Amino acid sequence: MSVHTNVKRVTTHVLSEMKLRGEKISMLTAYDFSLAKIVDSAGIDVILVGDSASNVMAGHETTLPITLDQMIYHATAVVRAAKRSLVVVDLPFGTYQGNSIEALSSAIRIMKETGAGAVKIEGGREISESVTRILSAGVPVMGHLGLTPQSIHKFGTYVVRAREEEEANRLKEDALLLESLGCFGIVLEKIPASLAGEVARSVKIPVIGIGAGPQVDGQVLVLHDMLGLTREFSPRFLRRYLNLYEEIEQAVKHYIGDVRSVDFPNEKEQY
Ligand code: KIV
Repeated sequence: MSVHTNVKRVTTHVLSEMKLRGEKISMLTAYDFSLAKIVDSAGIDVILVGDSASNVMAGHETTLPITLDQMIYHATAVVRAAKRSLVVVDLPFGTYQGNSIEALSSAIRIMKETGAGAVKIEGGREISESVTRILSAGVPVMGHLGLTPQSIHKFGTYVVRAREEEEANRLKEDALLLESLGCFGIVLEKIPASLAGEVARSVKIPVIGIGAGPQVDGQVLVLHDMLGLTREFSPRFLRRYLNLYEEIEQAVKHYIGDVRSVDFPNEKEQY
């Protein structure tokens, strides 16, 4: 049996062992108890309570509006469900940039109030002070480079990042910096596959890709996207494993019909 299928709890240490052994790491988002329970019992290695909850759960256009209290609410529910996976929680926009003391207090709130195993924050050199301070309190930190959705108003678009040499070099330097500061892993979002491979080979810590090709140490997707619960978001990197939007819509229509025709409840479904 491989190292990650017989562990009681996936830890950051388990993830680094997996990289050493060349075993790929699986990661998905979850924001609530019910879906997190399924994802965890299916054997996922890492559950990310992503700030994509802002889009997926609350219907915002960007990840910027979600608050620390809302992230804590989602993370608490996920942690209750996760018996085996490592739960990583995004620090939301405005709770860590530019003020490392605030960053630490945000991270501490997440760890204390949710019971999660780690936090994730977006950015490279510009947030190095925050990363260092959070790590100094013993909180594991995952980095996030490439397309960092909290900076969407700076980028202006969700297109592939780091195609140009200057941005690619900066990203490679930032990955090395995050590793040297002590991050246990890095998410690379929507960058060329060859660049992502180069970064993954240049660091010892696991690199998890989303839209970053296969040469990295693992993959992450937004659960609602891969289950086909969302329809409006269709980037090339997204593989849909189900079409739950249509299945749920059909089930609801069926139910409405049954209620209207008084087919539901039948004799067995009453007291
Ligand atoms: O918030 C999120 O879901 C993420 C993933 C896209 C990596 O950060």
